[in-house]
Amino acid sequence: MKKQFLDLGKQPIANNFLHEDQYEEEQFFNISMGYDSDSGLVSLMEYVDKKVLFNENYAYKSSMSTTMRDHFNHVALSLKVQFDPGIVLEIGSNDGVFMTNFSMTPRDGMCCISVEPCSNFAEITRSKGYTTYDKFWDIDTAKEIIQDYGQVDLVYSANCMCHIPELRDAFKAVHEVLRPDGVFVFEDPSLSDMVEKCSYDQIYDEHAHIFSVMALTKLLSDCGFVTFKIDHAKTHGGSNRIYAAKSNAYTVSASVPEALNNEYELKLDKFETYCEFADRVQKSKKDLVDLLSSLKNDGNKIIGYGATSKSTIVFNYCGVGVETLDYISDTTECKQGMMSPGAHIPIIAPPEDGIADDINYAFLGAWNYEEEILKKESVFVERGGKFITHVPDVRTI
Ligand code: TMP
Repeated sequence: MKKQFLDLGKQPIANNFLHEDQYEEEQFFNISMGYDSDSGLVSLMEYVDKKVLFNENYAYKSSMSTTMRDHFNHVALSLKVQFDPGIVLEIGSNDGVFMTNFSMTPRDGMCCISVEPCSNFAEITRSKGYTTYDKFWDIDTAKEIIQDYGQVDLVYSANCMCHIPELRDAFKAVHEVLRPDGVFVFEDPSLSDMVEKCSYDQIYDEHAHIFSVMALTKLLSDCGFVTFKIDHAKTHGGSNRIYAAKSNAYTVSASVPEALNNEYELKLDKFETYCEFADRVQKSKKDLVDLLSSLKNDGNKIIGYGATSKSTIVFNYCGVGVETLDYISDTTECKQGMMSPGAHIPIIAPPEDGIADDINYAFLGAWNYEEEILKKESVFVERGGKFITHVPDVRTI
């Protein structure tokens, strides 16, 4: 049974950047998280309708940072070397940052086809010549692909499986679409990282689940898969890449028991662990509010850096708005000129020569790109500018 451990209150759609004339129709949902002791899954207590979240207005663009572009190029190369697949199916291809590492048709060797329900993004990969099914992932889509291409060699999915409330159906559909010797590789933010880093802003409407390896290996096994390898990646604040096969063709690597042992040590199988996490989240909120108000009282000018879905959660949970942050700078064009969800902080394009001279502090909404951002903003740092983060605890950098 699923039992609630954290309530982040009413939250807007985390990626729904908007204009002032849209405030009245802005929708809010209860965002609270629970632990299911039967399945081991940590999931939202109430799911938001997928059509409200994933549609032609979807704003998140996977290729917007060097970190993510390098990451997906590296993963694509590594999968080619490990599995030499003929046909790859990507579920949730966004703007094609992964799939464009492959060719377009089976005629040209290793190729990639994809499924992407956000039609603005499906159109981008299609216009490049890739077959993209503008649909949600389910058994009907799997059957359509089998009809068009036959079963595929490899299914890859990044930051998408955790979006799907009906996971069992999604995994079964993957089982159906894969050849008997096929491999299913998927990566999503990791629960152990979230608990260790107190990164509660991983919890938002799109993240129906935050995955533990414990819960995944169990569910995958129920759906006919053997989990044979797990890679840990730094992306999205700490993610796990899970490798699962339909057959026993692959030796189970030490990475699987290692990841499981780590989770047992963190007591991710105990409800109390999540209650302690919730206490730390409340402290994080208090610390952030205190820090921001004391900086503001001292006359500092503060901005947000990166209008992320994570920052939507932080600002709305902690009650941070325009009285504290002058604006948020963000490199994603379609977010610029808009307001942030719920808190309604204006979003602007970052100045070409870095953070403006009159700014003393920048809250790292995109804390998962800390390394890349600190490098990029070296002038700001050298002149005494400071970043603020809440991960793993509230502090200035
Ligand atoms: P994400 O944390 O969900 O991946 O989103 C990252 C957001 O941060 C995205 O909107 C782009 C923005 N961003 C910047 O504005 N500047 C940067 O240097 C980086 C790396 C990201």
